[in-house]
Amino acid sequence: MSNLYFHYPFCKQACHYCNFHFSTKTQESERLWKAMLTELKLRKQELQLPLESLYFGGGSPSLLPPNILEALFNLLYKEYNMRSDIEITLEVNPDDVTKDYLSGLKSVGINRISLGLQSFYDRDLKLMNRVHSSDQALKALEFTSVLFSNFSLDLIYGMPYSTLLEWEQNLNTVMHYYPPHLSAYALMVEEATVLDRQVKKGEILLLPEEGVQEQYELLLEKTEKGGFINYEFSNFGKPNYFSINNQNYWQGNPYLGIGPGAHSYDGHALRKWNISNNPLYIKAIEAGELPLKEEKLSTKDRYNEYVMTGLRTIYGVSVAHIKNTFGTRYAQYLEEQAARHFSDHNLYWDGDCLKVTKKAKFLTDGLAADLFFI
Ligand SMILES: C[S@@+](CC[C@H](N)C(=O)[O-])C[C@H]1O[C@@H](n2cnc3c(N)ncnc32)[C@H](O)[C@@H]1O
Ligand code: SF4
Repeated sequence: MSNLYFHYPFCKQACHYCNFHFSTKTQESERLWKAMLTELKLRKQELQLPLESLYFGGGSPSLLPPNILEALFNLLYKEYNMRSDIEITLEVNPDDVTKDYLSGLKSVGINRISLGLQSFYDRDLKLMNRVHSSDQALKALEFTSVLFSNFSLDLIYGMPYSTLLEWEQNLNTVMHYYPPHLSAYALMVEEATVLDRQVKKGEILLLPEEGVQEQYELLLEKTEKGGFINYEFSNFGKPNYFSINNQNYWQGNPYLGIGPGAHSYDGHALRKWNISNNPLYIKAIEAGELPLKEEKLSTKDRYNEYVMTGLRTIYGVSVAHIKNTFGTRYAQYLEEQAARHFSDHNLYWDGDCLKVTKKAKFLTDGLAADLFFI
């Protein structure tokens, strides 16, 4: 079983916080898509069939017309034994949404939409340099909820100048449409982004950490009341609507990433990633070469990754799994390190699994770092 990921590296405009790989120079988009199909063929033997999920991320894959996707699906059904009932997600930007576009996606086989709303406040959207307005976000949400039963909404909290009340209002707005899945991320200032420069120059004042924590805690409270399960730090799903794609990543299952900047994992220790440069990617693929780099993860790296993803998810960190996979030394180390966090009620044992208490959830990444093997 594995996941197949397509990274479509084009956007209409650069959001000021984003450091995902994308380009706003779309002239070569057709050539690049062709190169992605060639890469898929060149790496066919790396896919561990059957496919369990298919995911189109970016960048902005909602710039792709449905007929292009249909041609790909026909290839996947014919030559990769893909079943049409697996989870097939496409990330959609609100400014690309029309009823016709969404219906087109549905008719060619997309069965899950991930809609990048981010916020319903124009002040936030402007600060982010999003293409769309809050009105467009609302329209997109309305159409998506009518046309798709399986959809997810992306929101960003902890925005500069935002209040708890505004964040509550954003959550109320999305809840009104009964989404089966939500992803909510704290605004991260990524290096070398416009936001990073603005913050360094003092042009934008970030929300203090306590303000971000307050918004996260409100998110936990409201999603719980709304029947969501917080199955990963930033992800909330109704029962039966956890993302299969996300869960496979977090459970260390194999995935193949196609396109510039896309990462792949063999499910054991080998990670590969494509060059994050569109022209160089096209050039290499057209010459029949794979512009890939790879690294073999050490036992220590794999332990640390397992601890990080385990603590962030509802599954926790299983000491038995650590003993079987990484050895007794690592299991003992985990138990010793974790012991320091029981008296302050940040961590607890649920059977053989180490988990973060509700009150310490916001501190998850720091707690995981404390358990790392260094
Ligand atoms: C790579 S984006 C692609 C989705 C789509 N292009 C869009 O913008 O709607 C996936 C999600 O990551 C989140 N994201 C990206 N950069 C972030 C940052 N610096 N801080 C917080 N969230 C971020 C946003 O919520 C975004 O919807
Ligand atoms: S957030 Fe989405 S639309 Fe904005 S630059 Fe990043 S990938 Fe493109």
